[in-house]
Amino acid sequence: MNGRQRTLCLSGSNDNKHRCLPGIFGFVYMNKSNNVEIEILNLNKSFRDNHILKNLNLKIPSGKTTVIMGGSGAGKTVLLKHIMGLLKPDSGKILIKGEDITAKTERELDKLRSSFAMVFQFAALLNSLTVGQNVGLGLKERGELTQKEINKIVDEKLRLVGLDGKQHVMPGELSGGMKKRVGVARALAMNPEVILYDEPTAGLDPFMAGNVDELILDLKNRLKMTSIVVTHDMNSAFYVGDRICMLHEGRVIEEGTPEEIQNSTNHITRQFITRHSVQNTARVSDSGSGGK
Ligand SMILES: Nc1ncnc2c1ncn2[C@@H]1O[C@H](COP(=O)(O)OP(=O)(O)O)[C@@H](O)[C@H]1O
Ligand SMILES: [Mg+2]
Repeated sequence: MNGRQRTLCLSGSNDNKHRCLPGIFGFVYMNKSNNVEIEILNLNKSFRDNHILKNLNLKIPSGKTTVIMGGSGAGKTVLLKHIMGLLKPDSGKILIKGEDITAKTERELDKLRSSFAMVFQFAALLNSLTVGQNVGLGLKERGELTQKEINKIVDEKLRLVGLDGKQHVMPGELSGGMKKRVGVARALAMNPEVILYDEPTAGLDPFMAGNVDELILDLKNRLKMTSIVVTHDMNSAFYVGDRICMLHEGRVIEEGTPEEIQNSTNHITRQFITRHSVQNTARVSDSGSGGK
């Protein structure tokens, strides 16, 4: 079902000779915890009279990748922002390790946010800073480490996403796929327990998108982090997801394993899969440019 080329290009280029180098990740990576389960109970959110999240219920298991798929405007990003404590719901609970974060103060939320990292839809890099400075920015702002210590972490995280040696490059010199990976490295620099990806393959050609999917999968396998991937890219959803849930008009209408979702009889899910698979096929046939 998945025609996309699945080649992990660890060098950060499309040069196949660098692919799948054994031991490239052969350094010790300490993750704080692999045990963050998230439970969302009866979540409601409106913006004025626009009811976006409607009694939404969802369980996100720890150490696995949960894909949230749904059409544009379905409320996916709004949901991610709630999980990160960036938006307050009108009602409902978000339990993280059993604690309801909707009841927390801003100060308590700050602590929580430090264990979450979001990879934004558009890499959102600062163009006036080097790749290394972008990756280390959060650590620098935290003010706990020396520049030397920060540089070491930056080097490690760039190696982890296959961009070793790109520390001094400016973002403007990178392809779209490489920028996304810098965004991932920046998220990892904060040593998060949970990583959230918002449309990580959007705007990438199939080759670059495949690389990003490989990276997401590889990081999950190595770091055993709880990962949440928001996407409407069906190739991506079926490839990286351990669980997939379908968000439609502010509700989770279906959830299951990739196989269960692929064989879904729910007509909204079926329609969504068909429509977005067609789009992917079209994308494959007219691609050829580098990732933008
Ligand atoms: N801060 C906001 N103020 C008002 N409306 C918003 C805000 N954020 C999101 N929305 C609306 O909520 C809906 C869902 O948005 P979003 O979660 O970004 O969709 P998507 O599923 O495409 O990520 C959209 O109609 C959007 O216009
Ligand atoms: Mg969105």
